[in-house]
Amino acid sequence: MMEFLELKHLSYDYITKAGKVHALKEASAVFEKGVVYAIVGRSGSGKSTLMSLIAGLDVPKSGEILYYGENLRNLDRDKFRREHIGMVFQSYYLLPQLTAVENVELSLELAGYKGDKRAKAEEMLSLVGIKKEQFKKRSTQFSGGEQQRIAVARAIAADPELILADEPTGNLDNENTMNVIRILVELAHKYDKCVIVITHAAEIAEKADVVLKMDDGVLKSICLNSGRCTRFLFAKYLSSLP
Ligand SMILES: Nc1ncnc2c1ncn2[C@@H]1O[C@H](COP(=O)(O)OP(=O)(O)OP(=O)(O)O)[C@@H](O)[C@H]1O
Ligand SMILES: [Mg+2]
Repeated sequence: MMEFLELKHLSYDYITKAGKVHALKEASAVFEKGVVYAIVGRSGSGKSTLMSLIAGLDVPKSGEILYYGENLRNLDRDKFRREHIGMVFQSYYLLPQLTAVENVELSLELAGYKGDKRAKAEEMLSLVGIKKEQFKKRSTQFSGGEQQRIAVARAIAADPELILADEPTGNLDNENTMNVIRILVELAHKYDKCVIVITHAAEIAEKADVVLKMDDGVLKSICLNSGRCTRFLFAKYLSSLP
């Protein structure tokens, strides 16, 4: 059976003046669509590094990333990311000179979206609870929670199969945190996306279907929150661990 996303023994080093930092050490996992995964683990354990490899922003030193069995090394990584992956970060990275709707339209443009970009962008903003009157406001004039929701709209506009979020609620109050979680869960459960969220927030880990713990560069323990994850194959890799 072809897995949606498979990570096989990923290793990654940062070269610094002080020497090599082994950020990932043979991290392995399998991810499927329709499931929300939370990746937890202490600061510096390698979570963001793992995410940047999955997104094709960087290349593993060794190990493989397979999408439907296809090795990411053999794909045009930038094109693949634009077309298949939606990313959300702790700092929203909205373009300040653009309006809310323009920010979303731009990502549609980059993803090669063929339909009516304005209409799609407006639909996405509505989906994340941004009011129509606000669509043409500059992105800097929104609150943190609103900017994060616009960032989510931008990430999901081109209908990516994979949504990667790195601490998407780090700056948000409780209400906005719950809003973002609700959207991420809906994307997986209603729209069959694979959602991978790095988080320190217990609220997110609780709502995720599967929680993976990153421990010093290795994906170590996992916890199944629900039965949604039917084709659960981490065991295959984890059985060898203590
Ligand atoms: N650009 C870099 N240059 C050198 N070392 C780096 C770089 N980025 C990360 N590291 C190191 O790699 C290791 C993993 O970092 P990473 O950012 O993946 O951790 P993280 O789990 O995302 O942490 P946090 O929860 O604080 O965001 C850490 O030891 C970190 O210091
Ligand atoms: Mg990080």
